[in-house]
Amino acid sequence: PAKRTAIIAGNWKMNYGPQQAASFVGEILPALSEALQSQDSVLCILCPPAISLAAVHAILNIPDASATPYIELGAQNMYFEEKGAYTGEISPLMVRELCTTVILGHSERRMYFGESDELVNKKTLSALNHQLRPIVCIGENLQQYEAGETDHVLSAQLRGSLAHLTIEQAREVVIAYEPIWAIGTGNAATAEIAGKVIHHIRQEYQSMYGAEAASAVRILYGGSVTSNNIAEFMAHPDIDGALVGGASLKPDFVDIVRHTV
Ligand code: G3P
Repeated sequence: PAKRTAIIAGNWKMNYGPQQAASFVGEILPALSEALQSQDSVLCILCPPAISLAAVHAILNIPDASATPYIELGAQNMYFEEKGAYTGEISPLMVRELCTTVILGHSERRMYFGESDELVNKKTLSALNHQLRPIVCIGENLQQYEAGETDHVLSAQLRGSLAHLTIEQAREVVIAYEPIWAIGTGNAATAEIAGKVIHHIRQEYQSMYGAEAASAVRILYGGSVTSNNIAEFMAHPDIDGALVGGASLKPDFVDIVRHTV
């Protein structure tokens, strides 16, 4: 099977408004571009808050593809409808003007904003129908992890959030496995644990969409990833990259990209 291109995505969460976003990207861009040019097997996706997307888009100078060929933009969320009376929401058409990608179903959205698998599924289908690459997040909490329920919980989230895709769409999706107990805690999963779980996710995906989609789908790990542990995660054959939170707000993000093989 063809090798899957690695993805390093930075989820800034609710950090950096337009001004800070522009100055941060301006600061890291020369080193980031250099790191990406020296290894053309990594796709880097920056996911600032929606209000800062235009500012980052302008800095990246995206129309000039030669400037930053491996850096793309992603939104952190969106609604599934194209337009209308949905105060506070952004639509797939709006996201598509600036982004290639959208993060969906992050555990923080599930926890604080009540997003269900069913809603995440509607958003995922909408993203795919609008030529956006969804990064669909799944993950168990500490209690479920300690009770040995991880595989069961993830299978249910996977089947709920990723229902009704065509085989073609199933290949395009990116899945992020983020154990909730590892998010923002400095307590990353070991590569062995993450690799085992991601292998299970791939098997489950195979039973949903077949062997070909399962070998094409990219599955990322997220949860306290830094430049110190990225290489271990990447060494596992089932792990195709990382969704980075805290470290994506710092120059360490460039080092993460450098250490991604
Ligand atoms: O989406 C990425 C995130 O939830 C992981 O956050 O800060 O542990 O890298 P962090």
